[in-house]
Amino acid sequence: MTTTRLCRSAGLIGPAAQAKALAEATAKLAARRQRDALPHRIETPRLALRAPIRGDVADLVKLADNKRIYEVLARLPNPYTRADGIAFVEIFAQRPDERPYAITLKDQFIGVVGFSYHAGQPPEVGYWLGEPYWGKGIMSEALKGLLEAAFATGLYPRLVARALKTNTGSLNVLEKAGFKRTGEGPDPIARTADVPVVFLEREQPKWM
Ligand SMILES: CC(C)(COP(=O)(O)OP(=O)(O)OC[C@H]1O[C@@H](n2cnc3c(N)ncnc32)[C@H](O)[C@@H]1OP(=O)(O)O)[C@@H](O)C(=O)NCCC(=O)NCCS
Repeated sequence: MTTTRLCRSAGLIGPAAQAKALAEATAKLAARRQRDALPHRIETPRLALRAPIRGDVADLVKLADNKRIYEVLARLPNPYTRADGIAFVEIFAQRPDERPYAITLKDQFIGVVGFSYHAGQPPEVGYWLGEPYWGKGIMSEALKGLLEAAFATGLYPRLVARALKTNTGSLNVLEKAGFKRTGEGPDPIARTADVPVVFLEREQPKWM
């Protein structure tokens, strides 16, 4: 689509509007390139990360329907129904601005890790793990695999993440993976407005 058509469809006119539309379209394309450069499958010593599939839905619903996960993840509904699981696999996972991987252990779905792409901003890491699997170093291993795969593309110079200030487990996972705190504040998408969110970032190692 040309910039003129982009501007018209957005109801904008003039050179400034054209420049804005062009910048937005370029940012969207850059995000799409980053997403599409990631491998279909990432293997780590214990895990395989791959696209979520319909066969994951039963385990996904069983594990995601958990108040302890809902309380720290703004995007997860509760109760988490079979319809939510199907929508995650069939709609959310197909979006051009999302790249979730199913984390599998011995071919069984146990959680999700991946990136969200907000135009003009660095990709944002997000994840959750089924409660029976907490405390075994699994998310650290999955995140390490994902970051290595992303950095290997050469298209991920900077990544961001955020976690509730009270979510010690998630902050530990991120800091162990090399993320540094950049600040904190209210989060427009957080469920609990009274708990601040910690913002973090990680740059690609210079030697990669
Ligand atoms: C946060 C979460 C992903 C951690 O996954 P995990 O596989 O249990 O984490 P790991 O075992 O890799 O732990 C990494 C480090 O964090 C520490 N840690 C993990 N959970 C912790 C907790 N609840 N409290 C304190 N430390 C914790 C571990 O001890 C480990 O440190 P170590 O290597 O020095 O021992 C998992 O608990 C989860 O999915 N929680 C709910 C969803 C969520 O919080 N998502 C992130 C939203 S920002």
